[in-house]
Amino acid sequence: MIMMMNNEKAYIQADDLVKVFRLGNVEVQALRGLSMRVSKGEMIAIVGASGSGKTTLLNILGGITRATAGNTVVAGYDVTNASPTQLVALRREIVGHIFQELNLLSTLTAYENVELPMLAAKKDGSTRKRRVEELLNIVGLADRMHHKPDELSGGERQRVAIAAAIANDPMVLLCDEPTGDLDTETGAIIVEYLHKVNKEFGKTVIMVTHDPSIARQCDRIFRIRDGQIISVQAPTSDQEMGAGSRVDVVRERLEEIKKEIKRLDEEAQSGQIDLGIFAAQRTRLADKKKLFEEEMHRLGL
Ligand SMILES: Nc1ncnc2c1ncn2[C@@H]1O[C@H](COP(=O)(O)OP(=O)(O)O)[C@@H](O)[C@H]1O
Ligand SMILES: [Mg+2]
Repeated sequence: MIMMMNNEKAYIQADDLVKVFRLGNVEVQALRGLSMRVSKGEMIAIVGASGSGKTTLLNILGGITRATAGNTVVAGYDVTNASPTQLVALRREIVGHIFQELNLLSTLTAYENVELPMLAAKKDGSTRKRRVEELLNIVGLADRMHHKPDELSGGERQRVAIAAAIANDPMVLLCDEPTGDLDTETGAIIVEYLHKVNKEFGKTVIMVTHDPSIARQCDRIFRIRDGQIISVQAPTSDQEMGAGSRVDVVRERLEEIKKEIKRLDEEAQSGQIDLGIFAAQRTRLADKKKLFEEEMHRLGL
């Protein structure tokens, strides 16, 4: 398995990433010293103009592309120094990836497309069957399982892609403009499913989007320009919103998280929830709490 990093690193962390593409004599610098940190359980939007390096960043995080320089940690694993075999394991088990295009094999049914990553992970037949049915239920496509991609709508295809991306229960989901080709309404449904994956299943989600209203639904928005993150904002901190109200929003969220933790602890004490679920949710909430405390700190409180 891939080497675990020490815990000083953020859950997902990029340090000074540089990516240079060479096409003959022409050099394109897609990333120019990009750094970012994401906590476990966060849902992050990445926004930026076409050609600013969004896809390149996602492909490096997902172990598809190697950075020219810099370091990458994903879900605590050292991606920078991973061997090719370890990168395959990362892609199969740790990271789910929804690409800008070509997510599904056109000759396979929805069922088979979702089953494919589990075949690669050598899951047994009955596990696969149970899981495929469960996943297609989650994305509301149980009645479409024997349809091939060209017999499905754009929105349905993206829902199959989500099901396939989370088939092996990855900890991190990378989505490259998952609503890019969809109308607003269908796009909203897709985003709803991604929120579900984030909130209910506790997956850390990083989503590239052009749509400001979709970005605003995420925990934080990373703006990328010319291969660098140029700003990180909480979605409610619109430019026109003053610093005072931002403090209120962060404080309010922190209170909400504290309440959630208290409620969770009470449920666990009274034996209302499974200990495994408790531990996972407790960790996620603690990470979120830390994040908002850091934000408070940044705001000078
Ligand atoms: N495989 C590649 N070969 C050469 N240049 C590339 C390659 N992939 C991306 N680029 C270039 O890197 C820059 C960033 O591309 P990309 O990450 O796809 O941007 P975005 O997803 O933000 O539109 C662009 O100038 C693009 O042309
Ligand atoms: Mg792109």
